[in-house]
Amino acid sequence: MAKSHASFVCQNCGAVAQRWQGRCESCGAWNSIVEESPSSGIGARAAQGARKGRVFGLSNLHEAEQPSPPRIMTGIGELDRVTGGGFVAGSVLLLGGEPGIGKSTLLIQACAALAGAGRRVVYISGEEAVDQIRLRALRLGLAAAPVELAAETSVEDIVATLSHGKRPSLVVIDSIQTMWTELIESTPGTVSQVRGAAQALIRFAKTAGAAVILVGHVTKDGQIAGPRVVEHMVDAVISFEGEGGRSFRILRAVKNRFGPTDEIGVFEMTGRGLAEVANPSALFLSSRDTSAPGAAVFAGMEGTRPLLVEVQALVAPSTLGTPRRAVVGWDNARLAMVVAVLEAHAGVKLGQYDIYLNVAGGLRVGEPAADLAAAAALVSSLSGISLAADSVYFGEIALSGAIRPVSHGMARLKEAAKLGFCRATIPQGAPEKGEAPAAVLSVQNCAHISGLVTGIAAGGGPPKRIPAVREN
Ligand code: TYD
Ligand code: MG
Repeated sequence: MAKSHASFVCQNCGAVAQRWQGRCESCGAWNSIVEESPSSGIGARAAQGARKGRVFGLSNLHEAEQPSPPRIMTGIGELDRVTGGGFVAGSVLLLGGEPGIGKSTLLIQACAALAGAGRRVVYISGEEAVDQIRLRALRLGLAAAPVELAAETSVEDIVATLSHGKRPSLVVIDSIQTMWTELIESTPGTVSQVRGAAQALIRFAKTAGAAVILVGHVTKDGQIAGPRVVEHMVDAVISFEGEGGRSFRILRAVKNRFGPTDEIGVFEMTGRGLAEVANPSALFLSSRDTSAPGAAVFAGMEGTRPLLVEVQALVAPSTLGTPRRAVVGWDNARLAMVVAVLEAHAGVKLGQYDIYLNVAGGLRVGEPAADLAAAAALVSSLSGISLAADSVYFGEIALSGAIRPVSHGMARLKEAAKLGFCRATIPQGAPEKGEAPAAVLSVQNCAHISGLVTGIAAGGGPPKRIPAVREN
């Protein structure tokens, strides 16, 4: 019999190496490679002795019975929106986030809401004792909720327990890294164990028809197996993010087989748990310094919801041979592009300056529509001219210097008007013909980047005002 060799698996990305290495060649993580026994990994049984295949029945696409899967709404609006309208029965969701961000808090709140509505909800913690969970629930004012609790880590025991009695609607496993299955020899927390445990729980979710939520800690040092290794196995991946020292948290769908992935949910961590933030624009703009140059308000979209956020730029003469370009919350490559377009088509010389760009509030903006706001912030910082405090910006900048229309122009303008903004600098042709902003809003259509620059040079406000448009 051939000698079975141990394999070396990166605990961060799951890549397999032939020998031990200090650094994973696949993901670049240091000290992440751990020796794992091949006879214990997934697929090991198949290799040991293949059995004859069973013949199963195939079904037809047009026979699909249920057009939409049954959903379990928690009543926590921000959470339900991100999941696409509630948890899906029989599906598995991975909630990832850094330790201490509030994953357990959010889930105990969701569990309490569902249990209060008469569903069977089970919360299994591999990290905290039952009393600790109770104390937390007490602090959150949820101690009376009939959530079933256990502190367990053996997946076989958990599945056996859950299979008894009434079928649970929701099962929370906190966290997947602490779970282990007897089928695999590796120590808990390794890639094989995390995968094996997740697989067993996924099988349980599908057969029992329960919604299962796996909590996964994301750590940067790669010591604990990243939940990334189970991302492809689960139905939805949701990440919970926040900025150090700030109290608000953003829930974001990364992958969702049953819903959209561009929705966000905004929460605030309070002394009594996570509170929903109904108006995130107001939150993100609340501590804004309206008189300082270098800040522009971007009227953005997060999924179906408009969201106003401040884009801040600092342009300062550089003492370095290669000026610094640092971006937080936006794309480096897009900043380089906007800077190049400003130089080439609007005569704004930024080559000798350090540039810092920041999206306020720890938000990450992925839309090209933020180009115009970033350009406005850059020009404002360079010139020292503050932008009008009641002005919003959106539009995509082309390499030619043209400003291109973006989608949802109307929703963006309405949100701006709702929050008391009076002016908007937007691309030509937006909003779509026949539509009008909900409130009085002076709209400046800007066709080219040079128009934006002359507008700012002329004193912050748009150079040419078009009379306000009213609805009806
Ligand atoms: P937790 O949900 O335990 O984080 P995770 O499960 O993601 O590791 O949250 C821990 C943090 O939240 C902790 O630093 C304290 C804070 N917190 C509050 O500020 N208010 C609260 O009501 C609770 C329960 C926690
Ligand atoms: Mg926790």
